[in-house]
This record gives sequence, structure tokens and C-alpha cells, in this order.
Amino acid sequence: MQKILVTGGTGYIGSHTVVELQHAGFEVVIVDNLSNSSADVVEGIARITGVRPAFERLDCLDGEGLERLFAKHGGIAAIIHFAASKAVGESVQKPLLYYRNNLTSLINLLELMPKYGVENFVFSSSCTVYGQPDVLPVTERAPRKPAESPYGNTKQICEDIVSDTVRSGAPIRSILLRYFNPIGAHPSAEIGELPLGVPQNLIPFVTQTAAGVRPKLSVFGNDYDTPDGSCIRDYINVVDLAKAHVIAAQRMLTGKSKSAVETFNLGTGRGVSVLEVVNTFEKVTGVKLNYEITGRRAGDIEKIWANPAYANAELGWQAKETLENTLASAWKWQQKLGKR
Ligand code: UD1
Repeated sequence: MQKILVTGGTGYIGSHTVVELQHAGFEVVIVDNLSNSSADVVEGIARITGVRPAFERLDCLDGEGLERLFAKHGGIAAIIHFAASKAVGESVQKPLLYYRNNLTSLINLLELMPKYGVENFVFSSSCTVYGQPDVLPVTERAPRKPAESPYGNTKQICEDIVSDTVRSGAPIRSILLRYFNPIGAHPSAEIGELPLGVPQNLIPFVTQTAAGVRPKLSVFGNDYDTPDGSCIRDYINVVDLAKAHVIAAQRMLTGKSKSAVETFNLGTGRGVSVLEVVNTFEKVTGVKLNYEITGRRAGDIEKIWANPAYANAELGWQAKETLENTLASAWKWQQKLGKR
């Protein structure tokens, strides 16, 4: 059984990926500092798959601790690196925290890989690297635009750190996965998104408003150059997204990579507006959402959705779940959380 190290494995996308890795027959070691997640997630994973993944509570900033972990869990075949800070607004307030966390964690891992013979690396990137694209849907060949936030900048710099390291001749190959907007929860409702404090992202805000945790959803702007005036995104089911990570790891492990660093868009190819999300949520759940149109949010991109053709063709992967089922899964998860 091949072993995969998943950093940030108790987080939102990480936990769903651990489940899919286990379903595919991989042994998983999770490393997470629990800064934005809980150890209970390991139990949720075990309830779904029947297998409890190894879990090490550790900060990837701790290079010595990481080295002990590599030595303890010998024979790691690949790393999937999720562990990072991801709140756009916070990154503007605390840029050094973001640069330190996101860059140093990555560097620590890349430095240890050759020493422990780990050759394969999947990196969590974001469509934020495209800024507002000139051409939609956006392909991987679109130019990266200057980042709107320190968070976005860390994703660009981290992509470059990986590429430069591979190009230097290090015995590492990598796949950079650029996520569009991951939403929803595992259909079992054993794991899902667990934002701490007031959610910044749309879907947790929607489900918390529906559950009565928040009095009202603000729709940030209806004066954009889009059909209904609200922003457009490409919302992708988190389980579909997780499955792409398994395929990426398998692609490297079976020598199918076409180059030492490959980049893929992970999206559905369909742009959906904020108001369409609101309407679809109401239709699927039968719950009326209390919302109001407010001003634009600083730094928001007007519209972006993926051209996933390259990922579809090369990875043999496609986002399959409907927006309706995905929103229903998010609601099922929120109902399990109750007023949290
Ligand atoms: C944001 C980041 C992105 C990051 C991702 C992960 C920006 C520009 N992008 O994506 O880089 O990878 O988070 O956390 O910040 N909305 C509302 N009301 C709300 C919340 C959101 O109307 O209460 C709208 C937003 O204006 C946007 C859409 O919903 O149009 C999606 O927002 P969100 O879920 O925060 O994701 P992004 O902004 O696309």
C-alpha cells in the first residue's frame, strides 16, 4: 500500500481528499497544526472509510518536527500539500504571517523530500493567480496577473518556488492544481467545511444564514457587468475536487506526467452568479434566505470560470456533481452542525 502524506489533512479540502485517497487504496498520514480545524475530523474520516488515518499534530513551520515525522513514517510516496493560511482579508492585515506560513511550510517540505527519497508533490493553488482574466473561460495558459492580496501572492510565489526547485534538478516532480470555488460537503455529512468565526466565503455564510446563525446574507454588489449584476464564479463540488488529487498522485506515481511540473485548472467550466446560488439554494432546500444587496467587496473579481478541458483530457477527470446536489450536501452538513 503506497503512503501519502497529506498536510492540512484535517482541513476542508484536505479531509475530503484523505477519504478519496483511502477509497483508492492509499495509506494516509495527516499532518495538521489544527489552527483552522479539529482533531474530530479524523473520526469523521474514519466513520466514512472504516480506516483511521495516522494523524500527527504538527506545524509545517517546524522543520525539525517535520524531519522527525519523515523519519518515523518512512516510505512516503507522495505529498499533497494543503496546509496554508487562506483568508484573503486577514492576509491584507497580517502579510508577514501569510508569507511566513505559506512560503516556509512549502520550503521545509521541498528541502526534506530529496533527503527522504520523496519524489512526488501535489500543490494546492488557486484560480486567484489569474486575477480578472482577459478571456473566459480561463485556460492554464492565461497569464498570471499581479495578485490582489498577500494571500494570492503567496499562491503565485509558491507555484514559482515549486517550479524553480524542480527546474534546478531536484529529484522532484509536481502537479500544481488551481482550484476554482470548492463548495459542498461529503454526502454522508460526516465531514464538511467548518469555518471558525464569521465565514468569509459565500456558501458557509448562506447555510449559516439559512440555519439562523447569521441574521442576513449580504450579496456583495449587483452592478457588475454580468447578466444579473452579481459576480460569477465556478463552484466545484469538494468531493469531485478531492478525486482530482488522487488522480494527480497516481499520475506521478505511475510515470504518466508529461513534464516535471504540470498545472491543471480544477473547475466545472460553468459560471454561476451569486444570485443564482441564492436562488438555487432556496429551490433545493425549500428554505427562504434573508439577504440584501450591499456594496461591492474590495478586491473581488467580477467574473471567472474555468476551461477544464486540459484537466478533463489529461487527467481523465471531470467535475460531475450538480450545483443542486452540492448545495443540498452543504445544507445537510449545516443541519448536522446545527447552530454552529
Ligand atoms: C476567495 C478568494 C480566493 C480564495 C478563496 C478561498 C478573493 C477575490 N478571492 O474566493 O482567492 O482562494 O476565497 O478562501 O477574495 N459573496 C457574497 N456574500 C458573502 C460572501 C461572498 O456576496 O457573504 C460573494 C463574493 O462577492 C463572490 C462570491 O460570493 O462573488 C464568492 O465569494 P467567496 O466564497 O468569498 O470566494 P472568492 O471570493 O471567489
